[in-house]
Amino acid sequence: MAKLIIREIGDSDVDAVAALWGRCALTRPWNDPHADIAFARSTDNSAILGGWLDGLLVASAMVGHDGHRGTVYYVSVDPDHQGHGFGRKLMDAAEAWLRDRSVWKLNLMVRASNREVVDFYNSLGYEIEERVNMSKWLDSSKRPVSKD
Ligand SMILES: CC(C)(COP(=O)(O)OP(=O)(O)OC[C@H]1O[C@@H](n2cnc3c(N)ncnc32)[C@H](O)[C@@H]1OP(=O)(O)O)[C@@H](O)C(=O)NCCC(=O)NCCS
Repeated sequence: MAKLIIREIGDSDVDAVAALWGRCALTRPWNDPHADIAFARSTDNSAILGGWLDGLLVASAMVGHDGHRGTVYYVSVDPDHQGHGFGRKLMDAAEAWLRDRSVWKLNLMVRASNREVVDFYNSLGYEIEERVNMSKWLDSSKRPVSKD
């Protein structure tokens, strides 16, 4: 089987990454993927990883830390390439990216509408922690009418 090559994306990969996130149903009307990618790439404490198979982008994740914990967003493997271990490799790369920066714990969120993906994270060693996740829109103009 071809090897998945994982690295931080470059400028020319941005459109393909945004399209991949869309194919994986991870984009929402209130999250402009191009803006999210640009923001993550604008600082040293976050990055966008891409995974290539024979030159084709098939996996991606946003990884970063806030000076305390690490996190991932937009963890995605192209639907045509799921179930071949690429998601596990992608998460290994995200964890390595954080370890390289001395981050020792990764917290991640799963949308309530996407609970089936919990089994994926379980098989990678992630555990559910009972927490109440709270948020506040600091720019109310970006607040969607409804969200999940
Ligand atoms: C979640 C996702 C990244 C998994 O990628 P993948 O390449 O199919 O996963 P892998 O093949 O590496 O699977 C790794 C392990 O997770 C398990 N797994 C993967 N998807 C699973 C699912 N839906 N239900 C149960 N187990 C699952 C696999 O069986 C495998 O277990 P094993 O190594 O013990 O055999 C991919 O399905 C995806 O992009 N989904 C849509 C986007 C999404 O929901 N992302 C997560 C947002 S929080």
